[in-house]
Amino acid sequence: MMNGEEAKELLEAQAHIWNYTFNYITSMSLKCAVQLGIPDIIHNHTKPITLSELVKALPIPQIRSPCVYRLMRILVHSGFFAIEKIHKHLEEKEVEGYMLTPSSRLLLKNQASNLSPFLLSMTDSAIVTPFHFMSALFQGSGCLPVEAAYGMSIWEYLLKHPEISKSFNDGMASDAQFLMTFVIQDCKTMFEGSKSLVDVGGGTGTAAKVISEAFPNIKCMVFDLPQVVSNLEGSESIEFVAGDMFESIPSADTILLKWILHDWSDEECVKILKKCREAILSKDNGGKVIIIDIVIQEDEEKFESIESQLCSDMLMMVHTTGKERTETEWKELFVEAGFASYKITHALALRSIIEVFP
Ligand SMILES: C[S@@+](CC[C@H](N)C(=O)[O-])C[C@H]1O[C@@H](n2cnc3c(N)ncnc32)[C@H](O)[C@@H]1O
Repeated sequence: MMNGEEAKELLEAQAHIWNYTFNYITSMSLKCAVQLGIPDIIHNHTKPITLSELVKALPIPQIRSPCVYRLMRILVHSGFFAIEKIHKHLEEKEVEGYMLTPSSRLLLKNQASNLSPFLLSMTDSAIVTPFHFMSALFQGSGCLPVEAAYGMSIWEYLLKHPEISKSFNDGMASDAQFLMTFVIQDCKTMFEGSKSLVDVGGGTGTAAKVISEAFPNIKCMVFDLPQVVSNLEGSESIEFVAGDMFESIPSADTILLKWILHDWSDEECVKILKKCREAILSKDNGGKVIIIDIVIQEDEEKFESIESQLCSDMLMMVHTTGKERTETEWKELFVEAGFASYKITHALALRSIIEVFP
């Protein structure tokens, strides 16, 4: 027989297992709500929306109303929507309406900060499927789960599947649009004095656009694989250049690596960083590499941030040869690549900015 304490502990342990076993269901429920356009419907309603109003606004039969109720219930529980009481006329019953929260406000379409493309790309089955092959890493000679699933690297897979590549690039662009606003606002001085910048692996150019708008004097170049940039048209302030960062990187005062190095192993990062060092103009006059990536800080108080950082690390383990790094691990890369010094600014909650000087 168990005593009361032991029984309580066991039942809590079971609940803990259930929470993590079913975590993906919350992700998929949020994805479904975004696909149905629920955040925008609530936003356009301009006041708390009742269940029946929400169902009417959705392109679904009225009979699905209980499913909408259940979908909203889990998303209210997880903080993506809130409930507010609506006081009707005295003789009518009080009813409840759904409202947006700060998180679902970030999922609205047609807003400068819209993270729904990021959510949709990361929950796409193409990204999720390789997680079923995680054990491949630990069997035989060990291969990347993405290779076990598709027989190729994630970059080759994206090249062969243009629609998934589009979703991936849109997801990256939505993150860049969101994050760069904070970089420009909080870390303006990092870019001051620079006349040219290359965004290495800059995707479809969103980060470069934000930088060029804030600093019209900086000539920006977006450097990425041919399948990403070949069909993109540049402007007077932004040029798109196709190439391979392992071969050579165009020269500039500032070399930006946003969300690049976590995709690659230490050896590959050192190769990329050496190419970056070669590419820095004005080495003695403020030239530098700016890295925007996760720096893992084990801080119990930031439980939610650490959890996301560690999930991102597993994403890297499944899809790439890379990993998320601690400051010590970053420092080793910089020393190995021949850089003189670095400075870390922890300004972006999940990610940090590292300036690396030649
Ligand atoms: C995780 S995404 C980051 C995109 C962008 N920097 C951002 O933060 O939104 C990685 C980028 O690296 C690019 N990439 C991968 N291999 C590359 C290579 N060998 N040379 C140049 N770019 C590469 C990919 O096409 C992709 O756009």
